[in-house]
Amino acid sequence: MKYTPLATLFSLGFLPLVLSTEFLVGVGKDETTGSKGIGFDPSVIHPVVGDIISWEFRSGQHSVVQSTFENPCTSNGGINTGVQTVADNLPVDAPGLPTFKVTVNSTDPLWFFDEAGGLCNKGAVLAVNPTSTQTAPAFKENAAKEPTSPPPSTTSGDTNPSTTGTGASSDPSQPASSNAANKPGTYVSGGLILSAISSLILGIF
Ligand SMILES: *[C@@H]1O[C@H](CO)[C@@H](O)[C@H](O)[C@H]1NC(C)=O
Repeated sequence: MKYTPLATLFSLGFLPLVLSTEFLVGVGKDETTGSKGIGFDPSVIHPVVGDIISWEFRSGQHSVVQSTFENPCTSNGGINTGVQTVADNLPVDAPGLPTFKVTVNSTDPLWFFDEAGGLCNKGAVLAVNPTSTQTAPAFKENAAKEPTSPPPSTTSGDTNPSTTGTGASSDPSQPASSNAANKPGTYVSGGLILSAISSLILGIF
């Protein structure tokens, strides 16, 4: 049986190692109302190593920029999605919104703000794996103490080419996406699903 070695690998339990959870985080979406608004929805997430954070940009100009717990509204030179512009007339969960994905490499806390949105001190911040000493509420309090963010720098680069989709390409006549936008979902590539199915079938015979 040609595929036996592969089937054996999967049956030994290697398959779960390649599963990762994708945390979909709305940018420019109010987490309390679910409408377009200030900040991130959700504003606190707890991914593990190998998981993916997928920022999905809503109407207006937004950028997700990495900062620090102490200075929530100032770039620390880390991740920067670049400014994403989405048409104002799109529904909050319109299909085809631009997204930007990063893989989580450790469970250390990560801190982000919406620089282009300019409302960091009004709560446009995202806490990833906050701790018992560096909590999400304390991060928000630190943000509230900062002056209003400067206008977005249009030169701050979209250096990572993993951005997909554009607001302009979305068709507003399509029904709003019914995905559970705040719920982490399990992300499995088609190839893995096929492999898993193959190994199941091979396991039967
Ligand atoms: C994880 O590592 C990759 C590759 O170095 C990098 O592109 C990505 O930004 C890192 N993720 C985080 C959250 O720092």
